[in-house]
Amino acid sequence: MKKIKIKNKQEIEKMEISGKLTAKVLEMIKKYVNIGITTEEIDKICHDYIINKQKAIPACLGYKGFPKSTCISVNDVVCHGIPNKYKLKNGDIVNIDVSVIKNGYHGDASKMFMVGKVNKKYKKLCKHTRKSLYIALKSIKPGIKISKLGKNIQKYISKKNFSIVEEYCGHGIGKKFHENPQILHYYDNREKTIIKKGMVFTIEPMINFGNKEVYCCKDGWTVKTMDNSYSAQYEHTVLVTNLGCNILTFQKDEKISKILINKK
Ligand code: MF3
Ligand code: CO
Repeated sequence: MKKIKIKNKQEIEKMEISGKLTAKVLEMIKKYVNIGITTEEIDKICHDYIINKQKAIPACLGYKGFPKSTCISVNDVVCHGIPNKYKLKNGDIVNIDVSVIKNGYHGDASKMFMVGKVNKKYKKLCKHTRKSLYIALKSIKPGIKISKLGKNIQKYISKKNFSIVEEYCGHGIGKKFHENPQILHYYDNREKTIIKKGMVFTIEPMINFGNKEVYCCKDGWTVKTMDNSYSAQYEHTVLVTNLGCNILTFQKDEKISKILINKK
């Protein structure tokens, strides 16, 4: 059995702060995500905000050699897009993935932004991806198997005729960016880990409009769909409580509450 850290009160207080700062970056950046801005410019705004306003550290910058402070993934880019000279255009769907370190602890969240007028089918893709994250969040409580989360995401997404990316998963988070456990976004019966109070982890489903297959580009980071279909992702960092979970990276425009009680 792999060791999973249970966070104590002091650590939880720090992770609440890191989570809030991470959420704040995503709220702050919204008004800049418009036609004509480059993903590199968006990254620069986030970077400066994290360093100068938050007095915090962008966790992505230099992580295993990643060259920028955020991951920005447009259209058929599934995740880990490197901010570059690409100018956002009308109809793009854009994931911005932010991770902030404050007081030695990480927060991690991402969400989709729509540029100009987005095709209805891609709006749906984003909506259902977020819903699948919410379904997983609402399933969390101590005593159940972690595999239940992926199971519930899969149940929902399979009904929508989209596909779930299997190569990347959610993760424990704390002093380290990526800790145990792994959170799969699909069902695997070999996953026996039980959720316990005080665990902190991310859930971050990547959902493709077409087939589930993806590949990593020559730059060593950018992950794209094999069939060039568009892909969406939403991510939150959560703390497991007695009764459910708290969304540490909760933002203003959520369609769910920060504190979730799971009576089922
Ligand atoms: N933020 C990503 C995650 O959710 C990790 C990105 S690693 C980076 O786990 F190096 F690309 F930043
Ligand atoms: Co993550």
